[in-house]
Amino acid sequence: MLNIAIDGPSGAGKSTISKLLAKKLGILYLDTGAMYRAVALYVDRTGTDVNDREKVVPLLEDIAIEFRGDGEEKRIFLNGEDVSEAIREHRVSKLASDVSKIREVRLFLVEQQREIAKKNDIVLDGRDITSFVLPDSKYKFFLTATPKERARRRYEELRSKGFDVDYDKILEDVNDRDYNDMNRDFAPLVQVDDAVVIDSTNLTTDEVIEVILRYVNTH
Ligand code: DC
Repeated sequence: MLNIAIDGPSGAGKSTISKLLAKKLGILYLDTGAMYRAVALYVDRTGTDVNDREKVVPLLEDIAIEFRGDGEEKRIFLNGEDVSEAIREHRVSKLASDVSKIREVRLFLVEQQREIAKKNDIVLDGRDITSFVLPDSKYKFFLTATPKERARRRYEELRSKGFDVDYDKILEDVNDRDYNDMNRDFAPLVQVDDAVVIDSTNLTTDEVIEVILRYVNTH
């Protein structure tokens, strides 16, 4: 199977790039961040603190996550409910980053991600795909950009969706999430030695895709 693994910090453009790349190659795309967001949303809705491991772990058996939809626009379902919009709310980002520190949460989702990757030609993006989910994948990319540029992109994205957000707060949140994602104990965000590093600060989406496609076509 063709598995393309893409990691990087939040706001580096991973999901936009991965979606377009998958479309160009005619293969699937799996947004693993959406899975952590769905878990966070579920836990939060039960009134449980996402940092409370003892209380969060038993909830996992009540969570079924599915991606549905033909073609490009896949929607994410949490126990049968379409939560594609709800998981994008700004507050869910931090909740997802926090809940993703719990080892059992990660293993619960990683198992599903590996299963999907085994059966499909697919692009996966996240934080631990190159290092932990699919360390043997032939195609590994680390997509990054400066924190300021990533905050600017997140700001534009949220504003275009009608959310009322403040740039300075977003920048602070980007830095917080970077810290969280890179410093957790289990499967943190790391740049593995054999990943192709792409700094997208001054690149367009098309330019990044071109770099990836060129690499895939020549290796
Ligand atoms: O990519 P995203 O912003 O939608 O991800 C939300 C959070 O989920 C992110 O801050 C960390 C966590 N995450 C993770 O730990 N591992 C992944 N493979 C994907 C996301």
